[in-house]
Amino acid sequence: KTPVIISTDPGVDDIVAILLALASPELEILAFITSFGNTDAESSRRNIFKTYQAVSRHLEQFPEDASRFPNFGAQVILARGSAGPLEGEVHSAQYFHGRDGLGEITERHPELDVQDQLPQLILSDSTGSQVAAELIRTRAPRTITYIALGPLTDLAQLMAEHGDLVRDRIGRIVCMGGALDVPGNTSPVAEFNFFADPYAVKNVLIENPKTLVPLDRFILLPLDITTPHEFPFPYYKDKIDPSFETSTQPSDGATKSPLVHFTSSFLEQARVVMLAFGKDAMELHDIVAMWCAIENPPGVDTLAVGWKARNRVFDIERTGELTRGMLVVDRREDASAYAPGVNRAAVQAELEQQNFAHATFESTAV
Ligand code: BDR
Ligand code: CA
Repeated sequence: KTPVIISTDPGVDDIVAILLALASPELEILAFITSFGNTDAESSRRNIFKTYQAVSRHLEQFPEDASRFPNFGAQVILARGSAGPLEGEVHSAQYFHGRDGLGEITERHPELDVQDQLPQLILSDSTGSQVAAELIRTRAPRTITYIALGPLTDLAQLMAEHGDLVRDRIGRIVCMGGALDVPGNTSPVAEFNFFADPYAVKNVLIENPKTLVPLDRFILLPLDITTPHEFPFPYYKDKIDPSFETSTQPSDGATKSPLVHFTSSFLEQARVVMLAFGKDAMELHDIVAMWCAIENPPGVDTLAVGWKARNRVFDIERTGELTRGMLVVDRREDASAYAPGVNRAAVQAELEQQNFAHATFESTAV
């Protein structure tokens, strides 16, 4: 089993990714670090409670489904992550995920809210980076995968505070974010997670790699890779919830399993938003990242069948008038960009000296 720390800002696709983690025997979930991002940090945290409660109620009603959630019984640390970016103002994606991160589920379905503590969640008073550092320190070296499904703020803090520990002992970092050769989803040029904290991206992917981050153990999944993976809502209606509606009206949960009532409640809202964008499907951004972590455990150099790695060189825009969070990709790396006879190694050395756009990392295509 791969032990994982999940940094997340749930968020519709984050929750589906977390349900995938709960259902995946390949993983052992050690901790959730919940941060700002799609919504505020407190709502992110509550959404983990709601998810655990929905699974718990489902299993009370259908105990025979316990084997479908092999990671549900174990205790998991729930730690508070950052409430905003390293610098500048907070941006959220509530236009898509709703004010509470799950399509106003709190108002539409108060019965899904959780007031009490849940036995599976160990609430930690330490910060997300302290919790992660402690786990990385105490677990066997190079075994843990850190999965970042939201802004990179907490990972940047972890690296700033415990850089050596991360370098020596992390197994893998899997991160959903950025847009390399495709348009952004938050602005014409920026993907949301990188837009939300471009300063953290700068530290994690551009500054630290020179000294700290083990790039050979870092897998980035930008929109280029995640957006093409879609889950059609009609398929969900067909296979999971025949009474799934495209409606802003609260649906009646009485006839559904508690878990399907929960997922349908936020997916119905997500569908309304996606239809406005002309798509009757959900984009599986964070789910693809979780899937990547499942299929590519630390210590295995060769990526699993079906996954390909590419190295790219880029930098990130932090303060641009129109380009905050944009990845500035150095396409001069393309062979076609060089006249015959140009010494590419010399050009690369020159770029490094200028400190320009130098983050070589693995990008993974499915
Ligand atoms: C990313 O941004 C968020 O809205 C999603 O949860 C995902 O992590 C996609 O750009
Ligand atoms: Ca997310």
